[in-house]
Amino acid sequence: MAKRPILVAPDPRLKAVAQDVAKVDGEIRRLVDDMLETMYAADGIGLAAVQIGVAQRVVVMDIDQKDGKRNPRVFINPAILWASDELATFEEGCLSVPDIWEEVERPAAIRAEYLDRDGRKQTVEADGLLADCLQHEMDHLNGVLFIDHLSRLKRSIALRKLAKAKKQKETA
Ligand code: NI
Repeated sequence: MAKRPILVAPDPRLKAVAQDVAKVDGEIRRLVDDMLETMYAADGIGLAAVQIGVAQRVVVMDIDQKDGKRNPRVFINPAILWASDELATFEEGCLSVPDIWEEVERPAAIRAEYLDRDGRKQTVEADGLLADCLQHEMDHLNGVLFIDHLSRLKRSIALRKLAKAKKQKETA
C-alpha cells in the first residue's frame, strides 16, 4: 500500500466526471488499498478516487473509527436507486477543502447499489452519517464538492479562503 497526495481545491481535476470501473481487478484493489491508507493517514472518514487524481468511480469510507478500530467500506460504481423526500443537515468537511466546515442539506435516507472489493453487486440502505457521507463521496465522482451546495455568498467566501491558503502554501 502507498499513501497518495490528496488534491486540494481549487483544482480542475476535482471537477472531472469519473468513469465507471469496467472490471474490479488487482489494479482496482491496489487503488482501494492506497485510498484507505491515504484516508486514514489524513484522519478522514471518506475519500473518492478523484481526490487523488484518479478519475474512476471508487469510494472508500470508514465512519466507525474509534480507539484505533477500523471498519473500512468500499463502494465501486455506486449509484443511488432511491432517495427520501425528507432532508437532513450535517456539518461537512472534506480532505480536498481543508479547514472549511459548513452545514449541507441532503436526502436523509438513500438506497444505493455498488460493487464491493470483490466485484460483487451489493445494495445498501443508509441513513444518518452513512447516507450523508455516501452522497458527499458520490458527488466527488461527478466533480461536485460540498461547497457547491452552499449559498453563492458562502461558497465564494469558501473559495476565497481556499485560494488564499493555497497561495500561502506555494509561497511558503
Ligand atoms: Ni470530500
